[in-house]
Amino acid sequence: MSPANGNPAAIAIRNVSKRFGSFTAVDNVDISVPQGAFLVLVGPSGCGKSTLLRMLAGLETPSEGEMAFMGRIVSDGTRGLVADAGARDAGLVFQSYALWPHMTVAGNIEWPLKVAKWSKADRAARVDEVLGLLGIAALKERYPAEISGGQQQRVAIARTIGPKPNILLFDEPLSNLDAKLRIEMRSELMRIHRATGATSVYVTHDQVEAMTMASHVAVLNNGKVEQFGAPLELLENPRTTFVATFLGTPPANLIEVNKSGDGLVYDGLRLADASRAEAQDGVQLLYRAHDLMVGDVEGRPTISARFEEAAPIAGRTMVTAFSNGQRLTAMADGYFRAAIGDQISLSFVNGPSAVFAMSGERIS
Ligand SMILES: Nc1ncnc2c1ncn2[C@@H]1O[C@H](COP(=O)(O)OP(=O)(O)O)[C@@H](O)[C@H]1O
Ligand SMILES: [Mg+2]
Repeated sequence: MSPANGNPAAIAIRNVSKRFGSFTAVDNVDISVPQGAFLVLVGPSGCGKSTLLRMLAGLETPSEGEMAFMGRIVSDGTRGLVADAGARDAGLVFQSYALWPHMTVAGNIEWPLKVAKWSKADRAARVDEVLGLLGIAALKERYPAEISGGQQQRVAIARTIGPKPNILLFDEPLSNLDAKLRIEMRSELMRIHRATGATSVYVTHDQVEAMTMASHVAVLNNGKVEQFGAPLELLENPRTTFVATFLGTPPANLIEVNKSGDGLVYDGLRLADASRAEAQDGVQLLYRAHDLMVGDVEGRPTISARFEEAAPIAGRTMVTAFSNGQRLTAMADGYFRAAIGDQISLSFVNGPSAVFAMSGERIS
């Protein structure tokens, strides 16, 4: 995705790998984003997100490949080159926001500006500006021990954006906050992103954060990029079962079916035309939760499943049930309740929205 106007990508990651001994933590990652992008690296724990971010921050050297910021090489695995943090013009925010305990909030925010040799007057003005941006002006003279965890995280973010870095790097910055504060801080970070215009890379294992915050998402699995694109593109057009089931709320259903005559059949029930499987005999069909409705729907394939759980969501109900050991997520209109173990009907009202080979690759 190099920009059409010929400007260099704000961040270009070219065929970057990172090995620890014989273990490959990041495997041939190749992605670029334009200036002002909000790139989210999302994937399960241990998939290589932090290692990739640490390479962007200059804290790790790639084993192979190179990284460029605004067309300037900052890391080159082949030559063992790593530009230091200052030369990168990048700021990093971690999950554990170690503030200096002996400095006030203002002192913490001012410190990197002193290091960058800003004048006293410019420092004072900038400290007030970022305090305002983060909504923590009232905490200016307090010490870290005198403010809450959520407030400390705001100070850490203020401290990072103070020197106006071109690039902001975040490693699960909200994971230590409670659920309500996390949602608030999500919007705050988006507001800060709009206000600063800094190209951002944000690491999270939370797919909801990825879907709500990202302009670009890279889904990582075992060190590899499974798919890279806009959030809706990945949701609507997943290339693998991993992406299809990792993204989306509620989780999507994957149903294994076999070719029988001209149909794809699950438990004796014809769900789709055999042509959707191309040359394969066994495939997996993707049904989003809203493609599977509780109850009998006229003219639609219906199965019986054992009720497990109901969760009300925005006036509808997300229902979990089992059929032949297969976990299914379906929706019901309004509020729905049943006793655990009850047999309920589920109808396939739409779809399948995608068909995958048993290997997980998209077929149609
Ligand atoms: N310094 C290191 N030495 C050896 N293995 C490492 C090192 N850093 C990370 N790893 C391994 O690399 C993999 C990816 O780690 P990490 O990037 O921290 O994953 P994530 O942030 O996605 O949870 C993990 O299996 C981790 O154990
Ligand atoms: Mg990590």
